[in-house]
Amino acid sequence: MKRLNSTFLTSLVAISASASDVSTSTTYSTVTPTTTLRRPYCKMTQDKDNGTTNGTTDTLAKNIKQANEILKTSNIVCFDVDSTIIQEEGIDELADFCGKGAEVAALTKEAMSGGMTFQEALKKRLDIIKPSQKQIREFIKNHPSTISPNVQELFRQLRANNTEIYLISGGFDCLIEPVATALQIPLSNLFANKLYFHFNGSYAGFDTQQVTSRSGGKGEAIKFIRQKFQQFNNNESAIITMIGDGATDLEASPPADYFIGYGGNVVREEVRHRANYYLTNFNQIQL
Ligand SMILES: *[C@@H]1O[C@H](CO)[C@@H](O)[C@H](O)[C@H]1NC(C)=O
Ligand SMILES: *[C@@H]1O[C@H](CO)[C@@H](O)[C@H](O)[C@H]1NC(C)=O
Ligand SMILES: *[C@@H]1O[C@H](CO)[C@@H](O)[C@H](O)[C@H]1NC(C)=O
Ligand SMILES: *[C@@H]1O[C@H](CO)[C@@H](O)[C@H](O)[C@H]1NC(C)=O
Ligand SMILES: *[C@@H]1O[C@H](CO)[C@@H](O)[C@H](O)[C@H]1NC(C)=O
Repeated sequence: MKRLNSTFLTSLVAISASASDVSTSTTYSTVTPTTTLRRPYCKMTQDKDNGTTNGTTDTLAKNIKQANEILKTSNIVCFDVDSTIIQEEGIDELADFCGKGAEVAALTKEAMSGGMTFQEALKKRLDIIKPSQKQIREFIKNHPSTISPNVQELFRQLRANNTEIYLISGGFDCLIEPVATALQIPLSNLFANKLYFHFNGSYAGFDTQQVTSRSGGKGEAIKFIRQKFQQFNNNESAIITMIGDGATDLEASPPADYFIGYGGNVVREEVRHRANYYLTNFNQIQL
C-alpha cells in the first residue's frame, strides 16, 4: 500500500472501511479513523410473488431456460446493485434528498448524450450534490433501499450450489453496505465507489482509483475477481456471469463469460435487445 501524505490523511476521512481493494497501490480504504455506517437499514421485500408474474412482463424475458443452465454452471455470479438487487437508483434518490434532483437529472442526460467520461460525469454529479456525512446518514435512515423480489431466494439457491456472489456497483459503498449486510454478502465481495469527507463531515471528493469510478470499470472488477479465483483454485478458471439492468453491466461481458439482463425494475430496451438472456423476475431462476 502506497503511503498517503499526512496532510491528506488528516483532511480526509473515508466513510467506510469496506474492502473492495481492487487497485493494488492507491486505495484509501484503510485510512483511519473510519466512520462506518453499520446500520442494517434496508427493506426486505417478502419473497412471495413466486411464479405469479401476470404475463405482461414475462413476454420480455429471453431464454430463461438457458439462463438457468448458465447459473447452474457458474462458479461466480456478479450482480449490479441499483435497479437490479435493489429497486432504486441510489445516486438519483440521494440527489433528490439533497434537493438537487433536477440538476443531477439534467446532467445525467447530458452525460448520456456523450462527450463525457464516466468519471467526469460522476464527479460533476457529486459536485452538484456535495453530500455531507450527515446527509448520507439521514438519507440511509429515511430512504432505506428496497431489495428486489426473490433476490434472497436466488442467493440461497446460488449458495446451495456453491456459487460465489459479488456485488459490483457504480454507486457508493456507504449506501450499498446496508444492502450487502442484509444479504450476508461480505464487504470483500463488494466493488463500489468510495466517498470522502472532511473531518467536519463535509463532502471531500471520491476515490478516483476505484475501478468502478471509470468507464469499463465493472469489467476490470471481473478480471480482478477472476484472478483471485484462479489464485485460490489451483489455476482453475472460473465461469463468471454478470447480471444487471444497464449498459455497463452488459459491457462487462466479456470479460464475464455471460451476461444476463434483468428488467424487473426498469427495462432498458437497448440492453434487452442486445442481451442473449433476459429475466424480468428472479423467480424465473430455479436451480
Ligand atoms: C408461492 O408462495 C406461497 C407462500 O409464500 C405458496 O403458498 C404458494 O404455493 C407458492 N406458489 C407457487 C406457484 O410456488
Ligand atoms: C399485469 O401487470 C401489469 C403491471 O403490473 C398491470 O398493469 C396489468 O394490469 C396486469 N395485467 C393483468 C391481466 O393482471
Ligand atoms: C451446481 O449444481 C450443478 C448440478 O445441479 C452442478 O453440475 C454444478 O457443478 C454446480 N455448480 C457449482 C459451481 O458447484
Ligand atoms: C469543512 O472543512 C473543509 C476543509 O477544511 C472546509 O473547506 C469547509 O468549509 C468546512 N465546512 C464547514 C461547514 O465547516
Ligand atoms: C499457475 O500458473 C502459473 C503461471 O502459469 C504457474 O507458475 C503456477 O505454477 C501454477 N500454479 C498451479 C498451482 O498450478
